[in-house]
Amino acid sequence: MTAVIEIKGLRKTFRSLRRGPKVALDGFDMLVEPGQIHGFLGPNGSGKTTTLRTLLGLVRADGGEMSILGTPSREYASVAHRVGAIVESPAFFGNFSGRKTLSLLATAGGVGQSRVGEVLERVGLRDRADDRVRSYSLGMKQRLAVASALLKQPELLILDEPANGLDPAGIHEMRTLMRDLAADGVTVLVSSHILSEIEIICDTVTIISRGRRVLAGPVDAVLAEHDNGDFRVRVPEPDRAREVLAGAGLSVTAADDHLVVGGVTDASAISEALGRAEIWLTELSPIAPDLESVFLDLTGTRPVDGVYHQVDDSVAVSVAPQTLEVSA
Ligand SMILES: Nc1ncnc2c1ncn2[C@@H]1O[C@H](COP(=O)(O)OP(=O)(O)OP(=O)(O)O)[C@@H](O)[C@H]1O
Ligand SMILES: [Mg+2]
Repeated sequence: MTAVIEIKGLRKTFRSLRRGPKVALDGFDMLVEPGQIHGFLGPNGSGKTTTLRTLLGLVRADGGEMSILGTPSREYASVAHRVGAIVESPAFFGNFSGRKTLSLLATAGGVGQSRVGEVLERVGLRDRADDRVRSYSLGMKQRLAVASALLKQPELLILDEPANGLDPAGIHEMRTLMRDLAADGVTVLVSSHILSEIEIICDTVTIISRGRRVLAGPVDAVLAEHDNGDFRVRVPEPDRAREVLAGAGLSVTAADDHLVVGGVTDASAISEALGRAEIWLTELSPIAPDLESVFLDLTGTRPVDGVYHQVDDSVAVSVAPQTLEVSA
Protein backbone atom coordinates (compact mmCIF):
# COMPACT_ATOMS: atom_id res chain seq x y z
CA MET A 1 0.00 0.00 0.00
CA THR A 2 1.57 3.29 -1.06
CA ALA A 3 1.50 5.92 1.66
CA VAL A 4 -0.46 9.06 0.86
CA ILE A 5 2.06 11.16 2.75
CA GLU A 6 5.53 10.11 3.80
CA ILE A 7 7.89 12.52 5.51
CA LYS A 8 11.35 11.59 6.72
CA GLY A 9 13.74 13.75 8.68
CA LEU A 10 12.18 17.06 7.69
CA ARG A 11 14.16 20.10 8.79
CA LYS A 12 13.37 23.78 8.66
CA THR A 13 15.02 26.70 10.40
CA PHE A 14 13.57 30.17 9.97
CA ARG A 15 16.27 32.80 9.95
CA SER A 16 15.44 36.26 11.11
CA LEU A 17 18.03 39.00 11.50
CA ARG A 18 16.16 40.52 14.41
CA ARG A 19 15.23 37.41 16.37
CA GLY A 20 17.92 34.99 15.22
CA PRO A 21 17.37 31.48 13.88
CA LYS A 22 14.29 29.51 14.92
CA VAL A 23 14.28 25.75 14.46
CA ALA A 24 10.71 24.92 13.44
CA LEU A 25 11.25 21.33 12.26
CA ASP A 26 14.00 19.21 13.73
CA GLY A 27 14.00 15.92 11.81
CA PHE A 28 10.26 15.39 11.66
CA ASP A 29 8.73 12.13 10.37
CA MET A 30 5.16 11.34 9.36
CA LEU A 31 3.32 8.52 7.59
CA VAL A 32 -0.29 8.77 6.44
CA GLU A 33 -1.92 5.73 4.82
CA PRO A 34 -4.79 5.92 2.33
CA GLY A 35 -8.36 6.19 3.57
CA GLN A 36 -7.45 7.46 7.04
CA ILE A 37 -8.49 10.51 8.92
CA HIS A 38 -5.09 11.31 10.33
CA GLY A 39 -4.80 13.73 13.21
CA PHE A 40 -1.77 15.99 13.41
CA LEU A 41 -1.55 17.11 16.97
CA GLY A 42 0.85 19.43 18.71
CA PRO A 43 1.04 22.49 20.95
CA ASN A 44 1.07 26.02 19.55
CA GLY A 45 4.33 26.64 17.74
CA SER A 46 5.33 22.97 17.53
CA GLY A 47 5.64 23.00 13.72
CA LYS A 48 2.29 21.78 12.33
CA THR A 49 1.64 24.64 9.91
CA THR A 50 5.28 24.69 8.85
CA THR A 51 5.07 20.96 8.04
CA LEU A 52 1.89 21.42 6.00
CA ARG A 53 3.24 24.45 4.17
CA THR A 54 6.46 22.61 3.38
CA LEU A 55 4.48 19.63 2.12
CA LEU A 56 2.54 21.87 -0.24
CA GLY A 57 5.67 23.57 -1.55
CA LEU A 58 4.89 26.90 0.15
CA VAL A 59 7.99 26.75 2.33
CA ARG A 60 11.34 25.35 1.29
CA ALA A 61 12.73 22.68 3.63
CA ASP A 62 16.37 22.69 4.72
CA GLY A 63 16.53 18.90 4.64
CA GLY A 64 14.60 15.67 4.69
CA GLU A 65 12.43 13.72 2.28
CA MET A 66 8.75 14.02 1.50
CA SER A 67 6.37 12.31 -0.84
CA ILE A 68 2.70 12.93 -1.53
CA LEU A 69 0.55 10.31 -3.26
CA GLY A 70 3.68 8.31 -3.97
CA THR A 71 5.37 11.23 -5.75
CA PRO A 72 8.49 12.98 -4.40
CA SER A 73 7.69 16.50 -3.25
CA ARG A 74 9.96 18.08 -5.90
CA GLU A 75 7.45 16.78 -8.45
CA TYR A 76 4.50 18.06 -6.43
CA ALA A 77 3.13 20.02 -9.40
CA SER A 78 2.24 16.74 -11.10
CA VAL A 79 -0.03 15.65 -8.21
CA ALA A 80 -1.23 19.06 -7.04
CA HIS A 81 -4.59 18.58 -8.77
CA ARG A 82 -5.20 15.50 -6.59
CA VAL A 83 -4.68 17.43 -3.34
CA GLY A 84 -7.07 19.89 -1.68
CA ALA A 85 -5.70 22.01 1.13
CA ILE A 86 -6.73 24.79 3.47
CA VAL A 87 -3.62 25.87 5.29
CA GLU A 88 -4.22 29.54 5.74
CA SER A 89 -7.85 30.63 6.16
CA PRO A 90 -8.72 31.79 2.69
CA ALA A 91 -10.13 35.29 2.41
CA PHE A 92 -13.36 35.39 0.41
CA PHE A 93 -14.92 38.43 -1.19
CA GLY A 94 -17.85 39.31 1.09
CA ASN A 95 -20.05 40.73 -1.65
CA PHE A 96 -20.11 37.51 -3.65
CA SER A 97 -22.40 34.63 -2.83
CA GLY A 98 -20.94 31.25 -1.92
CA ARG A 99 -22.10 29.91 -5.27
CA LYS A 100 -20.48 32.73 -7.23
CA THR A 101 -17.24 32.33 -5.26
CA LEU A 102 -17.07 28.64 -6.11
CA SER A 103 -18.13 29.22 -9.67
CA LEU A 104 -15.24 31.65 -10.22
CA LEU A 105 -12.81 29.24 -8.57
CA ALA A 106 -14.12 26.39 -10.74
CA THR A 107 -13.56 28.45 -13.88
CA ALA A 108 -10.08 29.44 -12.73
CA GLY A 109 -9.24 25.80 -11.93
CA GLY A 110 -10.69 24.35 -15.14
CA VAL A 111 -13.39 22.48 -13.22
CA GLY A 112 -16.87 22.03 -14.74
CA GLN A 113 -19.65 24.21 -13.27
CA SER A 114 -21.73 21.12 -12.37
CA ARG A 115 -19.21 20.47 -9.60
CA VAL A 116 -20.19 23.71 -7.82
CA GLY A 117 -23.64 22.40 -6.91
CA GLU A 118 -22.14 19.08 -5.81
CA VAL A 119 -19.64 20.60 -3.39
CA LEU A 120 -22.23 23.04 -1.98
CA GLU A 121 -24.43 20.05 -1.25
CA ARG A 122 -21.50 18.10 0.20
CA VAL A 123 -20.60 20.80 2.75
CA GLY A 124 -24.24 21.55 3.60
CA LEU A 125 -24.30 25.07 2.16
CA ARG A 126 -26.91 24.53 -0.54
CA ASP A 127 -29.62 26.50 1.24
CA ARG A 128 -27.36 29.51 1.80
CA ALA A 129 -25.47 29.26 -1.49
CA ASP A 130 -26.99 32.44 -2.95
CA ASP A 131 -26.49 34.59 0.15
CA ARG A 132 -23.51 36.89 0.35
CA VAL A 133 -20.44 35.38 2.02
CA ARG A 134 -20.35 38.41 4.34
CA SER A 135 -23.56 37.12 5.97
CA TYR A 136 -22.07 33.67 6.66
CA SER A 137 -21.11 32.50 10.13
CA LEU A 138 -17.48 31.49 10.75
CA GLY A 139 -18.50 27.83 10.48
CA MET A 140 -20.16 28.48 7.12
CA LYS A 141 -17.06 30.29 5.87
CA GLN A 142 -14.97 27.30 6.94
CA ARG A 143 -17.30 25.01 5.05
CA LEU A 144 -17.07 27.24 1.99
CA ALA A 145 -13.29 26.92 2.25
CA VAL A 146 -13.62 23.13 2.37
CA ALA A 147 -16.00 23.29 -0.60
CA SER A 148 -13.39 25.24 -2.58
CA ALA A 149 -10.77 22.61 -1.71
CA LEU A 150 -13.15 19.86 -2.87
CA LEU A 151 -13.82 21.32 -6.33
CA LYS A 152 -11.02 19.27 -7.87
CA GLN A 153 -12.30 16.05 -6.24
CA PRO A 154 -9.05 15.59 -4.33
CA GLU A 155 -7.87 12.21 -3.07
CA LEU A 156 -6.12 13.96 -0.19
CA LEU A 157 -7.57 16.81 1.82
CA ILE A 158 -5.28 18.77 4.16
CA LEU A 159 -6.95 20.96 6.78
CA ASP A 160 -4.95 23.13 9.17
CA GLU A 161 -6.93 23.68 12.37
CA PRO A 162 -10.40 23.50 10.81
CA ALA A 163 -12.06 23.66 14.24
CA ASN A 164 -10.37 26.95 15.16
CA GLY A 165 -12.87 29.52 16.30
CA LEU A 166 -15.90 27.30 15.73
CA ASP A 167 -18.64 26.81 18.29
CA PRO A 168 -19.64 23.25 19.30
CA ALA A 169 -22.26 23.06 16.56
CA GLY A 170 -19.73 24.21 13.95
CA ILE A 171 -17.19 21.69 15.21
CA HIS A 172 -19.81 18.96 15.00
CA GLU A 173 -20.63 19.91 11.39
CA MET A 174 -16.96 19.92 10.43
CA ARG A 175 -16.51 16.53 12.04
CA THR A 176 -19.48 15.04 10.16
CA LEU A 177 -18.12 16.50 6.94
CA MET A 178 -14.72 14.89 7.47
CA ARG A 179 -16.33 11.53 8.22
CA ASP A 180 -18.45 11.72 5.06
CA LEU A 181 -15.40 12.56 2.98
CA ALA A 182 -13.44 9.68 4.48
CA ALA A 183 -16.37 7.36 3.75
CA ASP A 184 -16.07 8.49 0.12
CA GLY A 185 -12.43 7.37 0.16
CA VAL A 186 -10.77 10.76 0.64
CA THR A 187 -7.72 10.67 2.91
CA VAL A 188 -7.91 13.55 5.39
CA LEU A 189 -4.97 15.07 7.24
CA VAL A 190 -6.24 17.41 9.93
CA SER A 191 -4.11 19.41 12.31
CA SER A 192 -5.34 20.57 15.67
CA HIS A 193 -4.19 21.56 19.10
CA ILE A 194 -7.56 20.50 20.50
CA LEU A 195 -7.01 16.99 21.76
CA SER A 196 -10.59 15.86 22.18
CA GLU A 197 -11.28 16.73 18.54
CA ILE A 198 -8.55 14.42 17.31
CA GLU A 199 -9.56 11.69 19.70
CA ILE A 200 -13.15 11.71 18.50
CA ILE A 201 -12.63 11.91 14.80
CA CYS A 202 -9.26 10.47 13.84
CA ASP A 203 -8.26 6.89 13.03
CA THR A 204 -4.56 7.58 13.41
CA VAL A 205 -2.50 10.34 14.93
CA THR A 206 0.94 11.92 14.79
CA ILE A 207 1.94 14.01 17.77
CA ILE A 208 4.58 16.68 17.19
CA SER A 209 6.47 18.56 19.85
CA ARG A 210 9.23 21.07 19.14
CA GLY A 211 9.49 20.06 15.53
CA ARG A 212 9.82 16.35 16.20
CA ARG A 213 7.44 13.45 16.11
CA VAL A 214 6.97 12.14 19.62
CA LEU A 215 4.30 9.57 18.89
CA ALA A 216 2.45 8.03 15.96
CA GLY A 217 -0.06 5.26 15.49
CA PRO A 218 -3.74 4.33 15.52
CA VAL A 219 -5.60 6.37 18.14
CA ASP A 220 -7.01 3.19 19.72
CA ALA A 221 -3.58 1.60 20.00
CA VAL A 222 -2.02 4.78 21.37
CA LEU A 223 -4.67 4.93 24.08
CA ALA A 224 -4.43 1.20 24.88
CA GLU A 225 -0.64 1.52 25.12
CA HIS A 226 -1.05 4.23 27.74
CA ASP A 227 -3.66 2.41 29.79
CA ASN A 228 -2.11 2.32 33.27
CA GLY A 229 -4.79 0.08 34.73
CA ASP A 230 -6.08 2.88 36.96
CA PHE A 231 -9.44 2.52 38.69
CA ARG A 232 -11.68 5.09 40.33
CA VAL A 233 -12.91 3.87 43.69
CA ARG A 234 -15.63 5.45 45.81
CA VAL A 235 -16.34 4.19 49.32
CA PRO A 236 -18.02 5.60 52.43
CA GLU A 237 -14.77 5.45 54.44
CA PRO A 238 -11.99 6.61 52.10
CA ASP A 239 -9.29 6.92 54.77
CA ARG A 240 -9.77 3.38 56.07
CA ALA A 241 -10.16 2.06 52.52
CA ARG A 242 -6.84 3.64 51.61
CA GLU A 243 -5.07 1.78 54.39
CA VAL A 244 -6.78 -1.49 53.50
CA LEU A 245 -5.89 -1.20 49.81
CA ALA A 246 -2.32 -0.19 50.55
CA GLY A 247 -2.14 -3.13 52.97
CA ALA A 248 -3.21 -5.40 50.11
CA GLY A 249 -0.19 -4.18 48.13
CA LEU A 250 -2.12 -1.85 45.83
CA SER A 251 -0.98 1.65 44.93
CA VAL A 252 -3.58 4.18 46.09
CA THR A 253 -3.80 7.93 45.77
CA ALA A 254 -6.55 10.18 47.03
CA ALA A 255 -8.32 12.45 44.53
CA ASP A 256 -10.96 15.11 45.30
CA ASP A 257 -13.86 12.86 46.20
CA HIS A 258 -12.55 9.41 45.33
CA LEU A 259 -9.50 7.18 45.38
CA VAL A 260 -7.40 6.18 42.40
CA VAL A 261 -5.98 2.68 42.53
CA GLY A 262 -3.20 2.15 39.99
CA GLY A 263 -1.59 -0.71 38.10
CA VAL A 264 -4.52 -3.08 38.56
CA THR A 265 -4.87 -6.00 36.16
CA ASP A 266 -7.93 -7.52 37.83
CA ALA A 267 -10.48 -5.22 39.47
CA SER A 268 -11.64 -8.01 41.77
CA ALA A 269 -8.43 -7.46 43.79
CA ILE A 270 -9.95 -4.13 44.87
CA SER A 271 -13.45 -5.35 45.72
CA GLU A 272 -12.07 -8.42 47.48
CA ALA A 273 -9.68 -6.46 49.71
CA LEU A 274 -12.37 -3.92 50.64
CA GLY A 275 -15.06 -6.57 51.13
CA ARG A 276 -12.85 -8.48 53.55
CA ALA A 277 -12.62 -5.30 55.64
CA GLU A 278 -16.39 -4.83 55.29
CA ILE A 279 -16.05 -1.65 53.27
CA TRP A 280 -18.63 -1.63 50.49
CA LEU A 281 -17.93 0.03 47.18
CA THR A 282 -20.24 2.66 45.77
CA GLU A 283 -18.18 2.97 42.60
CA LEU A 284 -15.46 0.95 40.93
CA SER A 285 -14.70 2.10 37.38
CA PRO A 286 -11.71 1.90 35.06
CA ILE A 287 -10.09 5.24 34.20
CA ALA A 288 -9.54 5.09 30.45
CA PRO A 289 -6.56 7.07 29.22
CA ASP A 290 -7.29 9.93 26.87
CA LEU A 291 -5.04 11.67 24.37
CA GLU A 292 -4.80 14.55 26.79
CA SER A 293 -2.91 12.51 29.37
CA VAL A 294 -0.76 10.82 26.72
CA PHE A 295 0.06 14.19 25.21
CA LEU A 296 0.94 15.68 28.55
CA ASP A 297 3.23 12.76 29.30
CA LEU A 298 5.04 13.13 26.02
CA THR A 299 5.27 16.86 25.50
CA GLY A 300 5.53 18.19 29.02
CA THR A 301 3.06 20.97 28.21
CA ARG A 302 0.26 22.18 30.43
CA PRO A 303 -3.34 22.67 29.40
CA VAL A 304 -5.20 25.97 29.52
CA ASP A 305 -8.94 25.39 29.06
CA GLY A 306 -8.30 22.02 27.45
CA VAL A 307 -5.88 23.49 24.91
CA TYR A 308 -2.15 22.87 25.06
CA HIS A 309 0.44 25.57 24.56
CA GLN A 310 4.09 25.01 23.96
CA VAL A 311 6.08 25.89 27.03
CA ASP A 312 8.29 28.93 26.66
CA ASP A 313 11.29 28.33 24.42
CA SER A 314 13.73 29.11 27.17
CA VAL A 315 12.29 26.41 29.40
CA ALA A 316 13.58 22.90 28.83
CA VAL A 317 10.89 20.30 28.17
CA SER A 318 10.68 18.10 31.21
CA VAL A 319 10.13 14.95 29.17
CA ALA A 320 12.69 14.37 26.45
CA PRO A 321 10.98 13.79 23.11
CA GLN A 322 11.08 10.13 22.22
CA THR A 323 9.76 8.36 19.22
CA LEU A 324 7.28 5.68 20.02
CA GLU A 325 5.70 3.81 17.17
CA VAL A 326 2.54 1.97 18.03
CA SER A 327 1.16 -0.45 15.51
CA ALA A 328 -2.44 -1.68 15.35
N1 LIG B 1 7.73 32.65 8.63
C1 LIG B 1 8.28 32.42 9.82
N2 LIG B 1 9.35 33.12 10.27
C2 LIG B 1 9.91 32.86 11.45
N3 LIG B 1 9.50 31.91 12.30
C3 LIG B 1 8.44 31.17 11.93
C4 LIG B 1 7.77 31.40 10.69
N4 LIG B 1 6.75 30.51 10.59
C5 LIG B 1 6.78 29.78 11.74
N5 LIG B 1 7.80 30.19 12.53
C6 LIG B 1 8.15 29.62 13.85
O1 LIG B 1 8.26 28.21 13.70
C7 LIG B 1 7.70 27.52 14.80
C8 LIG B 1 6.61 26.58 14.33
O2 LIG B 1 5.50 27.36 13.89
P1 LIG B 1 4.19 26.71 13.27
O3 LIG B 1 3.36 27.81 12.77
O4 LIG B 1 4.58 25.65 12.30
O5 LIG B 1 3.54 26.03 14.55
P2 LIG B 1 2.08 25.35 14.70
O6 LIG B 1 2.31 24.00 15.27
O7 LIG B 1 1.34 25.46 13.42
O8 LIG B 1 1.41 26.26 15.83
P3 LIG B 1 -0.11 26.71 16.04
O9 LIG B 1 -0.78 25.61 16.81
O10 LIG B 1 0.02 27.94 16.85
O11 LIG B 1 -0.72 26.96 14.69
C9 LIG B 1 7.21 28.61 15.75
O12 LIG B 1 8.17 28.84 16.72
C10 LIG B 1 7.05 29.81 14.85
O13 LIG B 1 7.22 31.00 15.59
MG1 LIG C 1 -0.47 26.37 12.91
